[in-house]
Amino acid sequence: MAQQNQETNTNEKEAYLKKKREEAQLGGGEERIQKQHDKGKLTARERLELLLDKDTFEEIDPFVTHRCSSFGMDDKQIPGDGVVTGFGEIHGRPVYVFSQDFTVFGGSLSETHAEKICKIMDLAMKNGIPIIGLNDSGGARIQEGVNSLGGYAEVFWRNSMASGVVPQLSAVMGPCAGGAVYSPALTDFVFMVEGTSYMFVTGPNVVKTVTQEDVTSEELGGAQTHNTKSGVAHFMARNDAICLEQMRNMLEYIPQNCEEKTPRQQSKDPDPGKAKELDDLVPHNPNKPYDIKDAVKGVVDRDSFMEVHEHYADNIVVGFARLDGRSIGIVANQPLSLAGTLDIDASIKGARFVRFCDAFNIPLLVFEDVPGFLPGTDQEWNGIIKHGAKLLYAFCEATVPKMTVITRKAYGGAYDVMNSKHIRADYNVAWPTAEIAVMGPKGAVEIIFRKEIAEADDPEAKEQELVEQYKEEFAHPYRAANHGFIDNVIYPHETREKLIKKLKICENKVDSIPQKKHDNLPI
Ligand code: HXC
Repeated sequence: MAQQNQETNTNEKEAYLKKKREEAQLGGGEERIQKQHDKGKLTARERLELLLDKDTFEEIDPFVTHRCSSFGMDDKQIPGDGVVTGFGEIHGRPVYVFSQDFTVFGGSLSETHAEKICKIMDLAMKNGIPIIGLNDSGGARIQEGVNSLGGYAEVFWRNSMASGVVPQLSAVMGPCAGGAVYSPALTDFVFMVEGTSYMFVTGPNVVKTVTQEDVTSEELGGAQTHNTKSGVAHFMARNDAICLEQMRNMLEYIPQNCEEKTPRQQSKDPDPGKAKELDDLVPHNPNKPYDIKDAVKGVVDRDSFMEVHEHYADNIVVGFARLDGRSIGIVANQPLSLAGTLDIDASIKGARFVRFCDAFNIPLLVFEDVPGFLPGTDQEWNGIIKHGAKLLYAFCEATVPKMTVITRKAYGGAYDVMNSKHIRADYNVAWPTAEIAVMGPKGAVEIIFRKEIAEADDPEAKEQELVEQYKEEFAHPYRAANHGFIDNVIYPHETREKLIKKLKICENKVDSIPQKKHDNLPI
């Protein structure tokens, strides 16, 4: 009899657990899940299934519920409280994850919802494992007031402490408002989905009230806006599945934490055609543009280039690639846009990427073709001096292996900034088409020979003669090579082979910057 009672008891307990689990799986219920699907969005759990390797997800805290009793909230308890948290694997390497469930109070963040996120962030820090957040949230849980704000601040503090220690990736996969945007902004990379994800501090209604502007959610904070205008987001995808695939791809290039290097993969030579084309890539006319991405793809491992921030400040190209199977970070001036000049947006974009690579032991490879900083009142008044200094600072402080290939122009301050030998780059080479000088020939002679040109019988002919003279003196890489400011002048088709050798020799590079509390980057 006692045994029978015990069995009934066990069966009841198992049935109870089963029921609780099913309840937790359902989040805000069938109807709200259908609504989510109708909008073209996946649920929090479906997203995790696509993000992680099959059957690797282990959930933590599925039964946590909120502690709020205001506004009748005690009657509305949903297990998990609007966020699914835990760990799993991506390409066989562990990650900690949280995925907000919009079907539960609009994914809004309560005190307990925040505690769940903080728990996995603490574990990720302790174990040196990346943190991936899938955000789909209406911001602070309005019914909870300051408890929710406190919860946000706890998350923000952890984001800041984890910065540079473990990689942090954020996907914004729904309407993220208020506090919901600041955690992603503190992380390393932000991924958005076109048409279904928004990020704004205050939505269109508040904007209308305060500034009288009429703006849609899409215009104010959609994926296009943040990928092209504000630069807040680094990637956009057509749907949730593609967005999650992009996140998986990125993890192949980055280590688990700041103590590690990215695992090396099989080396793959670029298409033979691409490597050969390098010799004819740079046009004879120095004012004619070409696509710097062709230079990148002719040098790095085949199909390994993953562009970051593709749609923002396209006068500079940044992204991850592999060289002889080793993960590297690419920074390249793009002559196709603004002649490859550095402006405010390009400087900020480049600096942020360089700092990420340096923090996570990813060597840097720079392709340089830069006529200088972009002139104009717009740039000066908006602070090109301090923003340009960010890129300079980022290269100066970086201690990872640093290599530079000058393909054409390396003029003025931009020569110094773009990973020059003087700021401790390890290997600087130039193609025969390189011109390393204070400025372009025409600008230079107009300044230093102004009087001679004005007094000449034929000022135009005189100017042309002086330009030719200047070109002979400076429009080549050999002056810099004479001084050892570049290590060699090389044929473009030799670039890959030489960089691979140098990267190998730098494998165990040890360099440091002075001990300090922290730096004072010109922010
Ligand atoms: C509690 C919320 C909520 C919130 C949405 N919901 N946001 N519940 N707190 N912040 C609930 C809704 O009541 C609704 O519940 C469900 O989520 C879905 O919301 P809908 O409005 O029906 O969905 P949709 O039309 O898609 O609009 C989504 C939205 C909108 C754009 C996010 O809900 C919205 O504007 N929410 C408020 C945004 C906001 O102002 N948040 C506070 C920011 S202040 P039912 O039960 O009907 O399904 C902040 C301060 C932190 O975050 C600052 C730190 C720096």
